[in-house]
Amino acid sequence: MIQTPTMSAFSYLAQPLEGSRLRLKNRVAHPAILTLLVQNQEVSEAFMRYHANRAKGGAAMIVVEPVNALSWHSRRQVQLNAYDDASLPGLARLADAIRVHDCRILAQIQDRGRGNYSRARADITYGPSALPDDESGAVPYPLSSDEVAEMIAAFAATARRLESAGFDGVELSAAHGHLFHQFLSPHSNRREDRYGGNFTSRLRLLKELIAAIRGACGPAFVIGLKLPGDDGIEGGIDFAEAGRITEALADPKTIDYMAFAWGSQSKALHWHIPDGHWPRMPYAPRIAELRKFAGGIPVMALGRIVDPNEAEAVLAAGQADLVGIGRAMITDPAWTKKALSGRGYAIRPCVSCNTCWGSVATPSAIACDNNPALATPREIDGVPALSGGFRRVVVVGGGVAGLEAAWVASARGHEVTLFSASSTLGGRARLAAALPGAEGLAGVYDHQIAEAQSRGVRIELGIQAEAADILSLEPDHVVLASGARMAWPEDLLGNGEALSGIPDLPAAMTDLLAHSGHHEGTAVVIDEDHGSFTYNAVDWLTAHFDRVVVLTSRDTVARHEHRVARQGIIERLLGGGVEIRPFRLPDLRPGELEDGIVGHRQAIGNGHRQFIEEVGFLSYAAHRDPRLELLAPLRAAGLRPRLVGDARAPRTLLHATREGHAAGLEIT
Ligand SMILES: Cc1cc2nc3c(=O)[nH]c(=O)nc-3n(C[C@H](O)[C@H](O)[C@H](O)COP(=O)(O)O)c2cc1C
Repeated sequence: MIQTPTMSAFSYLAQPLEGSRLRLKNRVAHPAILTLLVQNQEVSEAFMRYHANRAKGGAAMIVVEPVNALSWHSRRQVQLNAYDDASLPGLARLADAIRVHDCRILAQIQDRGRGNYSRARADITYGPSALPDDESGAVPYPLSSDEVAEMIAAFAATARRLESAGFDGVELSAAHGHLFHQFLSPHSNRREDRYGGNFTSRLRLLKELIAAIRGACGPAFVIGLKLPGDDGIEGGIDFAEAGRITEALADPKTIDYMAFAWGSQSKALHWHIPDGHWPRMPYAPRIAELRKFAGGIPVMALGRIVDPNEAEAVLAAGQADLVGIGRAMITDPAWTKKALSGRGYAIRPCVSCNTCWGSVATPSAIACDNNPALATPREIDGVPALSGGFRRVVVVGGGVAGLEAAWVASARGHEVTLFSASSTLGGRARLAAALPGAEGLAGVYDHQIAEAQSRGVRIELGIQAEAADILSLEPDHVVLASGARMAWPEDLLGNGEALSGIPDLPAAMTDLLAHSGHHEGTAVVIDEDHGSFTYNAVDWLTAHFDRVVVLTSRDTVARHEHRVARQGIIERLLGGGVEIRPFRLPDLRPGELEDGIVGHRQAIGNGHRQFIEEVGFLSYAAHRDPRLELLAPLRAAGLRPRLVGDARAPRTLLHATREGHAAGLEIT
């Protein structure tokens, strides 16, 4: 496809797409993102707003997350009913709300097949062959060929229903290890009937499904295909096989665009949402290779495209014809409009933390560390200003909770003073951002600082505010965002003086980061925190020490991280040669420590002490204690401070931005 640049801040992104069925006003699409905003299989207000905001924000196409497409299987309360006509009014309202912004709306059709297990194994799953699911180990019931044909007819009827509700098309997801992928892959499909046995037969389900949808729907109906680019499974679909599949399915008479997914429901699921440990746009060169097999069908690039300049570069280099902006559009629904109008600097950036994925995997409604207004009207219209009157507000703490509260309160018209004990803003997130893979976190506090400065927040840096400092400003409201400090883990290290010189990990890393270069000996981390900061620090230690050992009393590391984050952490730790010692407790003796010896013992039952020698670094990551020194004196002075973020209870960045935002809004 030849692209002729037009006049715009990003001429390739702004270029309309003029396919025979797929006609788009620009090249930016929102790919399928499970939001868990659906309730009782119906379009909820939040679901509607999430999508309408992104359409209003300039996206040319939205692929709505997978719908419940079959009446008899895989139905979830948190996915839209599209299998019977009762769903039509809700689907039509959604389609209208998107199309009014000149945005095309597609729905993803996907079935989890043998991945449709419940933890209690209460469901019977089905699949191509009776082989265990890579994730759950559940062995499915193998569908008969009549059942496959029946299913194809039902999916086509669902596509027709979506069309009658006003949807422009469907995206068939044959990726991520779901049912269509299970049929495509020799790893999961060992059938010997017409739907398996050889390459052609493994593709038959998809080909028949495409033909059935073409037969059921009108001539303008769009069909997109999401295919595996490399599923990360031995004996599955590797990059070469993905090329063959692309070529075999790339018929411009039936298919309107193609996209590729990486990894699958297996040990490689984290590939599909590359986080901050990956380079930006890691798949662009391989997408360009696969595009050569697509026979001129537009290809949508997916995978950590965050910045409009990068998106433009992918198109300009001819690596793809469209860009799918998933996580970055979760963070800023107006990504497209801002980019195309030359206001890319105003985009609130995705920091590739994958909190969004973690929230839907929990499972709970989608959430974003850097978009506390997600799916609300103000995420696109801005924070509502007060109609009159202002309050004097003091915020204590210059971390992300305090910064968020300060700029939001200021945007609403209040007079805000922020005290930061540190001489820099950003708090714990700033230290985290100094470690490998978390650099993007700067995008959270940098954005907040810019907002705070432009809105006139008075920022007092390097001041450990006392109650008297706060009271002297005669505040109407105080927000305490004073954070938390890592606690001494008495249960692990005792309460004696002898070991009290061992630094906690944040303190130790602050010190080490000032002295890069190689360090002699073994670094030992006692890990009871199980959050990402610890493992980013371990990555840094791996690059700077001879050897790294992680001791934890639990069965594995990263217990507080969701599945894809944990997969990435374990892959990196093992790849870096880190020795993970589960079920171990430190058993330290002062005399030994001085000789560089760290003792440890079994966490459960009895066991011998073991030793790590030539230790050059020892630190611990434990729970954190909220810093609440100011609470009692402020209360005694008659104030009712709002506690936000770690000061309220030590948790995550998500809680910090969310509670800071809410505090800024609440002040009236
Ligand atoms: C929270 C979340 C939910 C997702 N849900 C789906 C889904 O239901 N179906 C699908 O094909 N891809 C899903 N994806 C993958 C995205 O469509 C996209 O391929 C991936 O996020 C890479 O694009 P990005 O780097 O721009 O986010 C999801 C991704 C995220 C972060």
